[in-house]
Amino acid sequence: MIRSQLFIFGCIQSLAITLFLLILAIWHAPIWACMLASCIFALSAAWRWHDAWWWGGIHALFFPSIFLALQLNISPLWYLLAFTLSWVVFGRVAVNRAPIYLSNRQVLTALEARLPKNGHFLDIGAGTGTVLAWLVKRRPDLQLYGIEQAWLPWLLGRFRLPSKVKWLRGDYQKLDFANFDMAYAFLSPVPMEALWQKAQREMRPGTLFLSNTFIVPGVAPDEMIELGDWKGGRLLLWHM
Ligand SMILES: C[S@@+](CC[C@H](N)C(=O)[O-])C[C@H]1O[C@@H](n2cnc3c(N)ncnc32)[C@H](O)[C@@H]1O
Repeated sequence: MIRSQLFIFGCIQSLAITLFLLILAIWHAPIWACMLASCIFALSAAWRWHDAWWWGGIHALFFPSIFLALQLNISPLWYLLAFTLSWVVFGRVAVNRAPIYLSNRQVLTALEARLPKNGHFLDIGAGTGTVLAWLVKRRPDLQLYGIEQAWLPWLLGRFRLPSKVKWLRGDYQKLDFANFDMAYAFLSPVPMEALWQKAQREMRPGTLFLSNTFIVPGVAPDEMIELGDWKGGRLLLWHM
């Protein structure tokens, strides 16, 4: 199903759920009936939207948690604060589907050793600048660039990185990859296909596209370096 169809389906589903719950509330239905109906809806949404079974557990907990939280009489300002905090840390994660977690020492070492001499290196979704902070000390031959969308990681990177690293805030989808000789991504499985299309459209022949662990569906990498870390991570390389 394409993205716009999914969006329309999601809107209709949410409206139907809201209407049904409203009707239950107007009829003064007992709380257990509302809870049961909510759990059934949440589970059906989990089944429709996610592949992994454990999403069902998370969805099933939504309404009981809301109910419990309402009993605690917490000021709505705390919810606003929590929402704002998660927005500055995670940015548009609901759309991008790539939350923040940082490259480990194994991949940093592999990158340091494998990246070709000279050229422009981009970290796509650069988090707090971990990769660039490593490379700036050990690979002075490289011109380093990073782009990050979420405000707090970007701000931390701003303080952490020296000014010779070009540190951009924004959406990598709006950045032209044609200016880079190497582009490294550590995102999630979800954006990989679209990212690969973009890299193919924009990166010049002879340049290098790298992904930490996440594959490009249907496109075998030209090289694969086992990282030997606890999660079975691999550095995947494609010659464009
Ligand atoms: C898994 S973290 C990787 C951080 C860093 N590259 C590293 O390896 O340590 C992915 C980062 O990509 C960022 N991100 C996701 N989608 C993005 C987008 N469209 N534009 C810019 N940054 C994005 C997220 O905010 C997150 O900080």
